[in-house]
Amino acid sequence: MKIDLKIPVKDLAYSITIGENLFPKIWEYLNKNFKNRKVIIFCDSTVEKLYAKKLQSTDKFSFTSKIISFPAGEKNKSTRVKEMIETKILKSGFDRKSIMIALGGGVTGDLGGFISATYYRGIPFIQVPTTLLAMVDSSVGGKVAVNHTAGKNLIGAFYQPAAVFIDLKTLSTLPQNQFLNGLGEVIKTALIIDKAFFQYLVNNREKILKRDIKSLTSIIYRSCSIKAKVVMKDEKESGFRKILNYGHTIGHAIESASQYKINHGFAIAIGINLENRIAYNAGILGYDDLITINNFLNLCGFNVDLPEKYSENQIISKFKYDKKSVSGVPRFVLLKEIGKSVYDVTIDKNLIIKSLF
Ligand SMILES: NC(=O)c1ccc[n+]([C@@H]2O[C@H](COP(=O)([O-])OP(=O)(O)OC[C@H]3O[C@@H](n4cnc5c(N)ncnc54)[C@H](O)[C@@H]3O)[C@@H](O)[C@H]2O)c1
Repeated sequence: MKIDLKIPVKDLAYSITIGENLFPKIWEYLNKNFKNRKVIIFCDSTVEKLYAKKLQSTDKFSFTSKIISFPAGEKNKSTRVKEMIETKILKSGFDRKSIMIALGGGVTGDLGGFISATYYRGIPFIQVPTTLLAMVDSSVGGKVAVNHTAGKNLIGAFYQPAAVFIDLKTLSTLPQNQFLNGLGEVIKTALIIDKAFFQYLVNNREKILKRDIKSLTSIIYRSCSIKAKVVMKDEKESGFRKILNYGHTIGHAIESASQYKINHGFAIAIGINLENRIAYNAGILGYDDLITINNFLNLCGFNVDLPEKYSENQIISKFKYDKKSVSGVPRFVLLKEIGKSVYDVTIDKNLIIKSLF
């Protein structure tokens, strides 16, 4: 299955291919579009063991390729590790005629993409996401970045990949908490814009949680299509793309307050519930939708309440670092109903507190 994603900036266009056993197709693509380039296979230490050699061994065109890896983990999405990798790549003789395959989760895609954006002022890169989160979210849309001690993703660029290959087979080794991590983003995507998609998730919950390939193909295809449409309308997030941040104002605050011990997707699930409570208390979202979403998140295995140990100040003080905040005042993306959202909503602080605790 192939989705053609066109980004209407600088005549960019790229394809997202979804399927099983796609590694040979990646080399075919490279042979057709980037013949004679040297290939950096960039991955973290976990994916290196699982898939890097496998990918390298499917090259029937004798590309010059090298596996370059970094220790797995969000803390390595940093300028320090970026520089270390750049030194390794330079020392390995990769020049401006090189291309990178970013093979792995969102950390690998964000870090590898940002290295590609700046290496010799930019070399092409291909996203080969291996976590559900990276498949449905981070590999599409061209945001690449590293974290700074002051906050997540603060140093980065908009840099679109040349192509995205989503090989569903790689999901077979993904731990369940990482799978749920990605499912949180899938649910978010459905809720903001596509009621029928949300209904599909509800109707097929058990199959999805068992990673039935047909259901996975469907949810990844739909999530990528939606993200592609949103990005096509607003690549640089000046307006409409903000809806993708639904659940994230509070979700990011929780991630940060927990010092990233609560995984992104789990924090987003809590964020969805609490932002829905805000929308309900503000008279924007109806009670039935609030409860339907809550029940569904619970059935998927998410705990949607704010852990008691967090104080009002711990959460609210984080809002000023939210990228959507204006002069420290948060701008929420809120649901009007399942499948319909509004962005740039300001909410009275007392109503936020009432909804959170
Ligand atoms: N660029 C964007 O638009 C965007 C959007 C959402 C999230 N992100 C970023 O994505 C990152 C999170 O991505 P993530 O959740 O994929 O994290 P990750 O890349 O750290 O992957 C999670 C863990 O799963 C392991 N892993 C990866 N694939 C595997 C597989 N097939 N089998 C077994 N283990 C595997 C990794 O080694 C890692 O330990 C964050 O840094 C976040 O900021 C970016």
